[in-house]
Amino acid sequence: MSPSIKFTFGILIMVAWACGFSTEKRRPDKIEETHDQREVKKVSEADIINETKKLGDSISQKVGAVFMGKISEKYTEGGYEAAAKFCSMNAYPLTDSLAKEYKVFLKRVSKQYRNPENAPSDLERQVLEAYEYSIEHGDEIGANVQFIRPGDTILYNKPIRIPSELCLNCHGSPSQISEEVKTILKAEYPNDKATGYKVGDLRGMWSLKFLKKEIVQGL
Ligand code: HEC
Repeated sequence: MSPSIKFTFGILIMVAWACGFSTEKRRPDKIEETHDQREVKKVSEADIINETKKLGDSISQKVGAVFMGKISEKYTEGGYEAAAKFCSMNAYPLTDSLAKEYKVFLKRVSKQYRNPENAPSDLERQVLEAYEYSIEHGDEIGANVQFIRPGDTILYNKPIRIPSELCLNCHGSPSQISEEVKTILKAEYPNDKATGYKVGDLRGMWSLKFLKKEIVQGL
């Protein structure tokens, strides 16, 4: 190989290396810039992840508490038959107002879903399977934040484990679910997979999608 060909070849390899690795690899120190009228903000990916985690924790906690409160209230009024429709995101205006306020797309997903609308995407399935793996190996599980690439969306997930016997009235074994509730579930959800759970089991997870620019602007 002549020296000039060797040189060109070397440059090509360097360029390929630089391009390939700089786009593929996560760079925790990568700087995001936003311009508003007054200032240019510089924030790192770590800042964005922390902020997403904080918001995701607070939103999922708020919605979870409203669910529990409403199901208990409806149960007191008319039993679990009356409460059944209050375990759905659609039952809560809060979901809409949070969605507007934070421009967040909010849902719960499960591999053993009751409502097929709550089936996980491929990416969500991977996160659920990672949680299952950790549980099998006795590891703690918690919130998980990742960038959806390519694009400007951030995915926040948090496991939902069955916290109490309350849930088993509609998600437990057949002997724990009343005949009235069974009739409602059969009519509304003919392909229900969401029974047979015990306290502590992984029921599914929260799945929140944030726009990166919204998170950056809030920093
Ligand atoms: C009164 C009956 C009832 C009780 C009690 C109940 N659920 Fe549900 N759950 C439902 C119904 C009905 C759905 C389907 C909602 C929909 O259409 O989105 C559901 C759906 C879910 C989903 C979404 C995934 C899926 O299967 O579609 C999760 C997660 C969930 N429930 C968790 C819980 C937890 C945790 C508790 C206890 C805090 C609980 N549920 C208590 C009736 C109930």
